[in-house]
Amino acid sequence: MTIISGFSKFTHKQRLAFLVGHSDLNDSQAMCFNEFNATEENQQRLLSEMIENYIGNFPIPMGVVTNMMINNESYIVPFVTEESSVVAAASKAAKYWAERGGFHARVEAMTKKGQVHFTWNGNSAVIQQLFPEIKIKFLEATSEITGKMRQRGGGISDIQLLDKTKELKDYYQIDVSFETSDAMGANFINTTLEKIASVLLNLPQLNTDEFRIEIIMSILSNYTPDCKVTCWVECPVEKLSGWNKTLPYNTFASRFKQSVDIANLDISRAVTHNKGIFNGIDAVLVATGNDYRATAAGAHAYASRKGTYKGLTMVTLTEGMFRYELEIPLAIGTVGGITQVHPIVKNVMAVLKFPDAKKLMMIAAASGLANNFSAIASLITTGIQTGHMKMHLSNLLNQLNATETERSLANEFFSDKTVSNSAVNDFIISIRAEL
Ligand code: MEV
Repeated sequence: MTIISGFSKFTHKQRLAFLVGHSDLNDSQAMCFNEFNATEENQQRLLSEMIENYIGNFPIPMGVVTNMMINNESYIVPFVTEESSVVAAASKAAKYWAERGGFHARVEAMTKKGQVHFTWNGNSAVIQQLFPEIKIKFLEATSEITGKMRQRGGGISDIQLLDKTKELKDYYQIDVSFETSDAMGANFINTTLEKIASVLLNLPQLNTDEFRIEIIMSILSNYTPDCKVTCWVECPVEKLSGWNKTLPYNTFASRFKQSVDIANLDISRAVTHNKGIFNGIDAVLVATGNDYRATAAGAHAYASRKGTYKGLTMVTLTEGMFRYELEIPLAIGTVGGITQVHPIVKNVMAVLKFPDAKKLMMIAAASGLANNFSAIASLITTGIQTGHMKMHLSNLLNQLNATETERSLANEFFSDKTVSNSAVNDFIISIRAEL
């Protein structure tokens, strides 16, 4: 294995030449990395400066989900996803629920946290006793960093010393709570935490000849149970007719509840159930330039908060009412990060009517619930493959380099038949033999 140094200093041309020289990529394949360049020079520069070792843009389709009604306000929601059926599934559920009162959503709190992890080899009673005065020093030392955020209604909302010495020798945390207004706030939180760490290191009371602070790390937590959105749909059970004509509404409701109960008792099902929620959430988060890895990590941990991994939704069927609810932590933002830099994200925000972070949390949650509702409703009625494979048909035809004529014959043939890889393959082979 050759260690490569200095790749980041190469020009774009040199990077591509390097790839051709050191991989199975040939010259003409290397050209594909230029094919999706932004036409405007400045936009292309923004993209190429967004990450290290940039070689090209990677297109993923963007579509919109229409008829998304949330708290009586109507949205058109951009989705970025590679999965054929995701936009169709969310759109079907959005329209279905728009005719039944739409989605309802509530954000209770938007608090995020971070910790300075450190060791101190002194007596824990001493550090506890000194902590009120140390806390004031933290606030003073960070006031410049937090100034702008405080003007926007955010900043540090709490600082605690957590004694973890029983779990790990000499180990403590400074656990800091933050309000970050419309920003996701990762950089703000991490900068503030590092400042707090530097204060700790320089406290003469805790750093003597005998005792000393050692900073292990300072970092935000992606576990955000206090930055949470609740989103739900509800209607009288008899109004559930309409999704699938073959299943009576009361059977639809009880089977729907059973399927959600299964996700709450069985990990194998719970993970897939929650993945279906993330089909919608991630599509919105990618489109709006948010960190979807952070929210996934946080939400999956939240799904395990009671000791076992569970589905993130629940159904209640009481007094003839069906209510389906998603409760999920989503630490996301509409300012900061790449939201103002990415050339497309800016326009996505315009389609969404420039939501604040709270609104975006509700839009993402409703999108997740829409995808999940659609998935469950299909699973308990027709099965998932009918709709999924119908949307995937064009991918299969593209894989087979189908011509326009073959495409239209295939679309007609499969309009009332089950689509599968082998069925499409056989169909194309048979018509090619005939033509
Ligand atoms: C596929 O992307 C998502 C589903 O598997 C979700 C689910 O099973 O609930 C259909």
